[in-house]
Amino acid sequence: MRILSGIQPSGTLHIGNYYGAIQQHIELQEEHARPEAAFYFIANYHVLTSVHDRERVRALTRDVALDYLALGLDRKKATFFRQTDVPEVTELAWMLSCVTGKGLLERAHSYKDKVARGLESTMGLFCYPVLMAADILIYKSTVVPVGKDQQQHVEMAQDMAQSFNHAFSREVFLRPEWRFSKAPVVPGLDGAKMSKSYHNAIPIFLPEGMTEKQAWKTFFAAIKTDSKGVDDPKDANDTLMTLYRLFAPTEAEEFEPVYVRGGVGYGELKKRLHAAYEAKFAPLREKRAQLAKDDAYVESVLVEGAKRARAVAMEVMKEARDAAGLVVA
Ligand code: TRP
Repeated sequence: MRILSGIQPSGTLHIGNYYGAIQQHIELQEEHARPEAAFYFIANYHVLTSVHDRERVRALTRDVALDYLALGLDRKKATFFRQTDVPEVTELAWMLSCVTGKGLLERAHSYKDKVARGLESTMGLFCYPVLMAADILIYKSTVVPVGKDQQQHVEMAQDMAQSFNHAFSREVFLRPEWRFSKAPVVPGLDGAKMSKSYHNAIPIFLPEGMTEKQAWKTFFAAIKTDSKGVDDPKDANDTLMTLYRLFAPTEAEEFEPVYVRGGVGYGELKKRLHAAYEAKFAPLREKRAQLAKDDAYVESVLVEGAKRARAVAMEVMKEARDAAGLVVA
């Protein structure tokens, strides 16, 4: 069994990313605790579908590396690397594209959404799922922890594995299965799903220079509530409680009956929520700041990961080329 997931660097991570994906990546790493079992990579080739700015691509790549290491990715328990350090994936993407019907890609929701939101409809964007399938299949991955928005992409990878094996009459690739995290949809400041594009997100790491007090005003005080007074019974599943349960499950469970009965106001819970957020994320912020001062260490983790991942990829590519009759001197 191999667990694999790619992380597309897209700027500031928020707590929706954390509970929706990152936490599960870290849990799976702990569960298996063998670098061979869990492969996580920074999808920097994929970034080119939306960012054409050298400095920004570099900064985004570095930022995710720092984020993941600060949030608990452990080089002894998982393999962490940059997608570009295994360039064989682009070769496999080509081979897969030759056994994949154009119609399959035309049905991709994500492509249609991105174009509708104004992204340029390049071949790269259109073929994004093929590169993603190559990412998955090249390590013979079987478990792919992703958010719901990526389910269709993993299903496409299943189709492509099958098409390849069928086309060349060899069982080179294994069928990967998607796996969702247990976290419910994480609500944002306005109660809608937390998302960078909705401008309702609470970041994991505060923007540079933002004080705790400013964070309180910008995020926690700003969480939308209805007009219930202190004594009114509250909804156990409103935005505040849902977030509180994520940040501090035990405290939230104790607090819930009082909240539901009435007698505490929204202001009180917002304060608790902010304190729970600080307790959980402030130490990680500290750790990230330390890592940011040590680029050489971060690089050494990525290089070590790439070495391990690439060794696997090179073996699998030998099989794939051989199956297709491609000769390389
Ligand atoms: N498309 C994924 C996302 O946007 C990132 C990704 C790239 C990925 N390659 C992958 C995820 C392979 C899982 C497996 O989140």
